[in-house]
Order: sequence, then C-alpha cells, then structure tokens
Amino acid sequence: MARGTVVGVPTPHISAPDGAFAPTVLLPGDPLRAKWIAETFLDDAELVTEVRNIFGYTGTWNGNPVSVMGTGMGVPSISIYATELITQYGCERLIRVGSCGALIEAVGLRDVVIGAGACTDSGVNRVRFGGFDYAAIADWSLLRSTAEAAERGSASVHVGNIMTSDLFYSPKGEEVARMAASMGVLAVEMEAAGLYGVAAEHGAAALAICTVSDHLVLEQVLTPEERQQSFSDMIEIALAGAFA
Ligand code: HPA
Repeated sequence: MARGTVVGVPTPHISAPDGAFAPTVLLPGDPLRAKWIAETFLDDAELVTEVRNIFGYTGTWNGNPVSVMGTGMGVPSISIYATELITQYGCERLIRVGSCGALIEAVGLRDVVIGAGACTDSGVNRVRFGGFDYAAIADWSLLRSTAEAAERGSASVHVGNIMTSDLFYSPKGEEVARMAASMGVLAVEMEAAGLYGVAAEHGAAALAICTVSDHLVLEQVLTPEERQQSFSDMIEIALAGAFA
C-alpha cells in the first residue's frame, strides 16, 4: 500500500467498526493480558477486534471510556497497531503496559519503570527523521500524572531512560546492556521507542510503563505469580495516571 493511502475502517489488522475505541488505550504486548485487563479492571468491556487473536476491548474505568488491546512483541508489531489506532480510530493517548529487564542494581525486580525517553537499536525513528537521531520521549502530561499516581502507591518507581531492543536474543546483549547502564539507562524492553515515534509522527500522546520481570545484572526472574501481581499493580497505576 502506498505511503499516505488512507487505510479505512476496519483496517487490515483491526476488525473493529468506526468509533469502537476510546480515546485512551492501554497496550499490553500479550493479547491474553488485554483480555485479562478488560475482565479485571473495566466495566461493560466488549470485544471490538480479534484479528490474528490480537484482542481489543472497550469499556469504562471509574466511568471513563478506555480501550485495551494487545500489540504483539517488538517495534514493527506495536507500530502497526499504534498507527492504525491513531490514524483510523482517532485514539489520542496510547499507554504501553509491559515488562522489562533491569539494567542497573538500583532498579529491582517488581519495580515500576516509566520511560521518560527510549533509546533504541531500531532504525524506525531515523527513517522518520531524515536519518537524524530523534529523541523519542513520553508525553509530559501522561508521564507526570502517572509518576504521581505511582508515587501514591507502594511500588518503587523509577522515571528515566529505557532501551528498546530489536533483538531479545542478541549476540551483543551483555555488551549493549553494560553500555546502556553506563549511560544511565534503567531497563530494556522491546516497544517503547517505536510507540513514541508513531505517536510523534501522528500527533498523539504516548507513555510506556513497565514492571521489572527480570534482572540482567543480578540474574533474577519473577515467578509467574509474582509477574501477575506486579502486572496488576502496574495497571492500577496506569489507569489512575491516565484519569487523574
Ligand atoms: N529484554 C528485552 N525485553 C524484555 C526483557 C529483556 O530482558 N525483559 C522483559 N522484556
């Protein structure tokens, strides 16, 4: 499809009708997490799309309309869904809720990391930005309200730079992790820089919030039960921040 072509609704990747999404969308990587968030946190949640088993729901939280949809893993996948949500469904605020690996000892397992900015080895933002380095940053208003919501709770919260990596299994993983840590990068994940670039390109607001599921320095991982609990705590923070 040519650049600039209007895709229309439904899109190749989202089967929802026009107007099916709320302005604010939570974006977990795992579509079953989207289902779980909808069933656990939203009132009157309805399934609005399920192309490729990427489930999307719309409901309300404390009376506020909100959607939640899976993105799959990695920059290319989240870029497709984020672009279509913004340009075809008019979504205005996209909030990634995911997991990350800690790169420094000061960030612990289960902590919440909010990506004020996202470094990356992906080339997508250079493609967007004429070959220059685009500073992929979060929306300030979402960042501030979410950090404040997190600070009101019991989780340890870190706000700063994160690293969006194209390769989960990287031959240079340890080297890159050491370098990133030495430059103050808190954690690694695989989507935020792509989401921030898409949002900037199309004039939407974006934020990435992650819980630490594994620690690259201390070589620790959460159990599945711990992952679930810390994920749940993070969703509370994301919703409280979005509708503060
Ligand atoms: N690397 C990349 N993405 C991740 C990791 C990791 O170690 N942990 C959770 N998401």
